[in-house]
Amino acid sequence: MSVILAIESSCDETSVAICNNGKITANVIANQTIHQNYGGVIPELASRVHQQNIIPVIHQALADAKVSKKDINAIAFTRGPGLLGSLLVGVSFAKSFALALNLPLIAVNHMHAHILAHYIDEPKPEFPFLCLTVSGGHTQIVLVKDYFDMEIIGESLDDAAGEAFDKTAKILGLPYPGGPLIDKHAAKGNPLAYKFAVPQIKDLNYSFSGFKTSILYFIRAQEKQNPDFIVENLDDICASVQHSIVQILLNKLKKAAKQYGIKEIAIAGGVSANSGLRNALGQLATDLGWNVYIPAFEYCTDNAAMIAIAGHHKFMRQEFVGQDVAPASRMEF
Ligand code: KG4
Ligand code: ZN
Repeated sequence: MSVILAIESSCDETSVAICNNGKITANVIANQTIHQNYGGVIPELASRVHQQNIIPVIHQALADAKVSKKDINAIAFTRGPGLLGSLLVGVSFAKSFALALNLPLIAVNHMHAHILAHYIDEPKPEFPFLCLTVSGGHTQIVLVKDYFDMEIIGESLDDAAGEAFDKTAKILGLPYPGGPLIDKHAAKGNPLAYKFAVPQIKDLNYSFSGFKTSILYFIRAQEKQNPDFIVENLDDICASVQHSIVQILLNKLKKAAKQYGIKEIAIAGGVSANSGLRNALGQLATDLGWNVYIPAFEYCTDNAAMIAIAGHHKFMRQEFVGQDVAPASRMEF
């Protein structure tokens, strides 16, 4: 029997979840809207808002799960990677809470947790599987051999896929975070309206910085001829950008699946909420005989449920850390 309370505060979502014997019974997420005014997450502001949110979010999670503090068996928290000031709030709170309640502490790697979100609900992937983890800070193809035995076999050498979405959105004058807005406009546009240069990168790695620049130059050139180019063609531009990013992501995933002879394929991270990616992956499942695993929307973007399920599996292994644990903004995979 175990009740795990988990805290996620690596970026701009303050989230607390409860995992009761491997089942998620609460997952409260407080989004920070303040960053919309700045076109990106402002670390200092994020940290301050985490401080304001953390206690109400803990109370709400306990209420949702109908448990009290004395029912908790361990406190799990995101140790990294992420913004240091944001992580500090969650890590300090977890440590104080564990000290006050005399409970063990479980440190979780945020990128592992995105992948382990697949173990919240059915169907669960079988080991070994490949996971394309695509978020605002990371783009990785991971060979997952067991819950905590994972190997990165390909990754972005510069920008993450989420950044490619968000930076393109910024060029188009859309507010932060632009990924979901590009997705929304793309649904109404023609994905083949415009073609963008596809990066030629070796092995299973990615690059998105040149791609983003090519979009910027394309838009500037079009605007010279028609100053209203963006407004008049927003849906087609979004659909074409999204189509290109999805093709870039899936081409390397197909290569990895072939190279490793694996047909159990999952996606994870904020960009896995993208409908273009979800649909294209579903199509590949049919074409290539893959078993694909796509997380529920609420477990794609940052959430504490994924930290709680990772914490549950560490609890079963009795894998705890001491009060000397510190946040690790560049935590190794
Ligand atoms: O995993 P996540 O919530 O936070 C990080 O750990 O980075 O990912 C956030 C990223 C942002 O770049 C956001 O624009 C992107 O996920 N994102 C999307 C969609 N929903 C979130 N990108 C494309 N389409 C979406 N529907
Ligand atoms: Zn994340």
